[in-house]
Amino acid sequence: MTVLEYFEKAQKEKWAIGQFNFSTDEQLKGIMIAAQNLKSPIIIGTSEGESKFLGLKQAVALIKSFKDETGFPVFLNLDHGKNLDYIKEAINFGYDCVHFDGSELSLPDNIKLTKEIVKAGSKKDVLIEGEIGIIGKSTEVKEENLTRLEDVKYFVQETGVNSLAISIGNVHGVYQKMPKIDFERLKKIRARIETPLVLHGGSGVSEKDIKKLIKEGIVKININTELRVAWKKALKATIKQSGREEIKPYKILLPASRAIQKVVEEKIKLFGSQNKA
Ligand code: 13P
Repeated sequence: MTVLEYFEKAQKEKWAIGQFNFSTDEQLKGIMIAAQNLKSPIIIGTSEGESKFLGLKQAVALIKSFKDETGFPVFLNLDHGKNLDYIKEAINFGYDCVHFDGSELSLPDNIKLTKEIVKAGSKKDVLIEGEIGIIGKSTEVKEENLTRLEDVKYFVQETGVNSLAISIGNVHGVYQKMPKIDFERLKKIRARIETPLVLHGGSGVSEKDIKKLIKEGIVKININTELRVAWKKALKATIKQSGREEIKPYKILLPASRAIQKVVEEKIKLFGSQNKA
């Protein structure tokens, strides 16, 4: 099945597919083991920064090796791509999906560049995620940054994106007090378009809100910060406990990999994507 087919299935059955970001091998292993244990389809994300650390080609090769070995539905997405040349490189190297983040541009510019990426992607059957409305990194969500209802249908029709990231009070990161999700806006967006809807900033969103978001039509949820926090916490603890004499990276990194696996397993269960592979 393609990613789009999974989105359609998720939409019909009211569950969501998780996108989990990585930049190192042991993180990817943790994510993959979780997905396989729970038989969940999965999207693996790399931001521009993460993919530059890994290498675009290397990221594609790593995912392909898992796919070949397991026959598992795992898809690779370039997350928050902003540089057109770089996004096109990702498309050419074999990414399954790319997210073009033109959210900070004017609507006409966002449409123009998104269209260019949709055109590049269509030659290689790559799924394109667009974005309207600014998803910030602060709990102070400004009304003017939320996805404007009047833009939704127009943006989708003009660009032909396959999925759409929206700003409805979601923010990147985890905060003591998370902003309120604007469910009414989500409902109105859903009523205007049938395009699969994506929630960025999945870390820190309460279980109750995640369930409601899925019920109201979100089919893809991105998680990064919670994985990074779990990874660093486990790594710090292992280095502290293991003492000066332990220098084997594969021993030091294993608990960090397991910590990632645990978070991903929890999210898969929450998103309802287990046994959907
Ligand atoms: P979080 O870091 O809040 O989980 O957001 C991740 C994300 O949206 C990646 O695109």
